[in-house]
Amino acid sequence: MEIGRPDEIEDSSPATLGSLQIAGSPEFMSQAYSINSSHIDIEDASSFEEKDCPLPVYLKFADVEYKVKFSRASSNINIVTTVASKVASQLSFDQDNYKHILNGISGSVAPGEILALMGPSGSGKTTLLKVIGGRLRERVKGTITYNDVPYSPALKKRVGFVTQDDVLFPQLTVEETLVFSAFLRLPSSMSRNQKYERVDMIVKELGLERCRHTRIGGGFVRGISGGERKRTSIGYEILVDPSLLLLDEPTSGLDSTSANRILQILQRLAKAGRTIVTTIHQPSSRIFHMFDKVLLIAQGYPLYCGKAREAVEYFSSLRFIPEMAMNPAEFLLELAAGQVDDISVPEDLPAPQGTAEYERIVIRFLHHKFKVQLEPKEKNENHNMSKISEQLRVAIQIKKDWTLTWTDQFMILLKRTYRERCRDYFDTIRLVQALAIAVLLGLLWWKSNFTTEAQLRDQIGLLFYICIFWTSSSIFGAVYVFPFEKIFLVKERKADMYRLSVYYVCSTLCDMVAHILYPTFFMSILYFMAGFKRTIDCFFLSLSTILLIAVTSQGAGELFGAAAMSMKRAGMIASLVLMLFLLTGGYYVQHIPKFMKWLKYVSFMYHGFRLLLKVQYDGNELYECGSKVGCRTLQSSPSFDTVNLDGGLEEVWIMLAMALAYRVGAYIFLNRKINAANL
Ligand SMILES: Nc1ncnc2c1ncn2[C@@H]1O[C@H](COP(=O)(O)OP(=O)(O)O)[C@@H](O)[C@H]1O
Ligand SMILES: [Mg+2]
Repeated sequence: MEIGRPDEIEDSSPATLGSLQIAGSPEFMSQAYSINSSHIDIEDASSFEEKDCPLPVYLKFADVEYKVKFSRASSNINIVTTVASKVASQLSFDQDNYKHILNGISGSVAPGEILALMGPSGSGKTTLLKVIGGRLRERVKGTITYNDVPYSPALKKRVGFVTQDDVLFPQLTVEETLVFSAFLRLPSSMSRNQKYERVDMIVKELGLERCRHTRIGGGFVRGISGGERKRTSIGYEILVDPSLLLLDEPTSGLDSTSANRILQILQRLAKAGRTIVTTIHQPSSRIFHMFDKVLLIAQGYPLYCGKAREAVEYFSSLRFIPEMAMNPAEFLLELAAGQVDDISVPEDLPAPQGTAEYERIVIRFLHHKFKVQLEPKEKNENHNMSKISEQLRVAIQIKKDWTLTWTDQFMILLKRTYRERCRDYFDTIRLVQALAIAVLLGLLWWKSNFTTEAQLRDQIGLLFYICIFWTSSSIFGAVYVFPFEKIFLVKERKADMYRLSVYYVCSTLCDMVAHILYPTFFMSILYFMAGFKRTIDCFFLSLSTILLIAVTSQGAGELFGAAAMSMKRAGMIASLVLMLFLLTGGYYVQHIPKFMKWLKYVSFMYHGFRLLLKVQYDGNELYECGSKVGCRTLQSSPSFDTVNLDGGLEEVWIMLAMALAYRVGAYIFLNRKINAANL
């Protein structure tokens, strides 16, 4: 893997990796909170970074509520699903048709601790995690503070978010993934070697040595295992040393050894001074005991919040006692699901009936107890009493301003985009396809000429076919790029990794490799086989026209992809537009009614085709010499009724303007869609 990587790291100075090393210092918390200087100095406040330890973040959230409007959320779903889900979750709706997903959740977690969000599936864990991470902010009620300060964009670079589905480029290796991320996100003040060293250290720390040169894989690409993928995702986030690390189901789908390993890593990260919140569905008892705190949620209602080791005791005090030996996590989950078959319940509750109504009674009872017993205690101890030092409050508001310059980002991202997509660009199947079609067309139109009107028409037919072929190849080659990369883009933009304009320019420039390479190869074969005009000028002008058509079509494909942002819809739009452009391209119909004329002006195929004709034929050239009427000029042929063969090449400018306009449109759509999207 090289971004200009020296073969050996020469720098022997000690690496500044302190924060990522396993501190394991019990004094950490006292250090973090013992600062009580009355004088606040910005330099002092940012000294955590200088000391290379993450800024301690004390997270508190109280009375968090979140609801979604039913109609809006389900606008994309078909009517059957809508009705079914409405009936299924009827009870969680209020009169104004809102679904309450989180209902007054409170909790807190300090640096050095791991808070586990537990509850059955659909209870609201992921939603709460997104709210805490600042990814969901609309329609959220309650207070969420970081060192007693509400969310601000300055936090973006202090929060790491590991989503449930690993969002990693399948074609990059583990090392490439981390190195590119390091180069894009670490401050420019760090030397190259320091960045490589940090990657090396993370690879070792997360036990990724064995797979560091293996591709990530996914879909149809073979790659690393699920556990390794999850560790890579964690590595990707901890590269920039976030203070608050949020993880959504980091152990789901993993075997118990891999799951334990992930939790051990999280424990070490927490000990180094980070605040960690993780959702977890069904932890083993060993994993459960690794958590410092647990927040148990059922149908969006909190049932328990406090120390993990005190959870079972608390429920026992409410007289919910397991009747058989049970993993504490399993016990909590059964309670949160309202299923108490193997649990003895207090006398004031009716005997277990196993009905949905009974489950709701249990949950309501436990929630009531939480409100009365735990919530006031939690708020008193962690929200009202513990005051955060002024220094930490100031420090959290300072933005880690690490942004690289546009050019630096461009150079790194260009390499990454190329590395990620180059397999596509140099695909043997594509090459064989271009070769086969070129040869087939060459044989069909072998040494064609235009001595008669019929032969001329044949040759014009070939030119139009070439136009269609490259227009459709380029449109379909470009239309799926943004819908496919959307999740990567959203993730990286949310983390402020690079500017969108850098991504767009890199993407469009890299893809041009394919849009230039294949048509050139294709034309070099076909042009001479098919007997087009044998002059160097004419060949290069025809090739340039085809390349212009391909690059303009690429712009159009990008526009449709960015506007639709879904593979299916983008594909449909592209087919429809292609069909329309094809009909108005100037081959099937030259004399379009006036009221439909505008269509041909927006069709780049129309301009591309005219340009090809102008390049290939000279209006004064003679043909039909063998006929009774005698020689005629090409311009007099009915095929050129609407084309002035000796006119200027204004089509070049029109197409260049179109290529640019499509791209501006694509960028505007991309910007809007990515800003509005959520992972
Ligand atoms: N945007 C949304 N629109 C409608 N329902 C939603 C939305 N987001 C989450 N939900 C619903 O909220 C509930 C909690 O979701 P989630 O937080 O993903 O649960 P968990 O992570 O605990 O499995 C689920 O019933 C889910 O369908
Ligand atoms: Mg979830």
